[in-house]
Amino acid sequence: QKVDLELEAIEKGGFEHFMLKEIYEQPKSIKDCFRGRLKANDGKLVLGGIREYSNALINAERIVIVACGTSWHAGLVAEYIFEEFCRIPVEVEYASEFRYRNPVIKEGDIMFAISQSGETADTLAAMELAKSKGAVVLGVCNVVGSSISRVSHEGVYTHAGPEIGVASTKAFTAQLTVLTMIALRVAHRKGTLAEQRYREILVDLENIPNKVAKALETDKQVEKIAALFKDARNFLYLGRGYNFPVALEGALKLKEISYIHAEGYPAAEMKHGPIALIDEEMPVVFIATRDSSYDKIVSNIQEVKARKGKVIAIVSEGDSLIPGMVDHTIEVPGTHEALMPMVATIPLQLLSYHIAVMRGTNVDQPRNLAKSVTVE
Ligand code: G6P
Repeated sequence: QKVDLELEAIEKGGFEHFMLKEIYEQPKSIKDCFRGRLKANDGKLVLGGIREYSNALINAERIVIVACGTSWHAGLVAEYIFEEFCRIPVEVEYASEFRYRNPVIKEGDIMFAISQSGETADTLAAMELAKSKGAVVLGVCNVVGSSISRVSHEGVYTHAGPEIGVASTKAFTAQLTVLTMIALRVAHRKGTLAEQRYREILVDLENIPNKVAKALETDKQVEKIAALFKDARNFLYLGRGYNFPVALEGALKLKEISYIHAEGYPAAEMKHGPIALIDEEMPVVFIATRDSSYDKIVSNIQEVKARKGKVIAIVSEGDSLIPGMVDHTIEVPGTHEALMPMVATIPLQLLSYHIAVMRGTNVDQPRNLAKSVTVE
């Protein structure tokens, strides 16, 4: 027993929980994900995992992404990225819904199956269904040799290293890294992304680990904010565009480990329902970094403040407008808007972590949840 505990302490590398260790590993895990693949200075992006089917991907008329949980959120970000850069229509599906609704799949369709564990039963079944109908199935998995990686025609590993905390953190940012690399590669070969922009985004991508490291420096400040809101009964997370899936993921993290009810929503959709919940008791987390929907989200913040909601805003460094409107701001470094989810998600991971610790929950093994769900 004692030996086990000591071993666990060593594995945690000085951190109190695996989740915190994994949050802090992200600058490194994202770099590991690039290793041997990305050389921004030379404009090089090599993805050995999808050689044979790269033409199929470039000529695809449609991409379907299936996943569950956090991996599904990575899929949503990928939808925006693939549509913007590659001009290929994308659908993102919960694997459990896709497999039971007689989906339309044509020969030549591409399916991406995203899974940290590579063992999620619904995702596996959705892939098998798509394969049987002639789709090309590409896996984005973390666990090498997992069932999903074996069932895929080809795939790209995320190489984030073992993730022990049930709530997924570093696997999520690694999935975003891989999916972004694939989209950039396809867009470049298709010619839907001009050379100059392609190269600029490669450089931005290579800089993400530094920006994530910078975002981790908000930890102490986030902890103070967590102390103020730890007893809240509900939370709302709002974002637009690339940051909409970040809102969903922020809410999921909080639910999973602190057991506080949280909802993520596209900020503009708030007026069709969640706005009814807002009063002076309601914490609302806005992901409001500088991007093409900035002005719109500023108006959404005003709508919440007018109803006396308590606003915590994730903003870009140097934002001089939003801090004057809200209760708390957390600054993160800016980057290309398509890459922002990797940076903006960091303070949300920390917020859920600190709230859970303060509430005394089992952070690494939250009640009722499993790391890998091998039953449907
Ligand atoms: C479980 C885990 C989540 C994970 C989801 C999908 O619910 O608790 O953290 O996001 O499964 O798992 P996968 O391994 O397929 O990414």
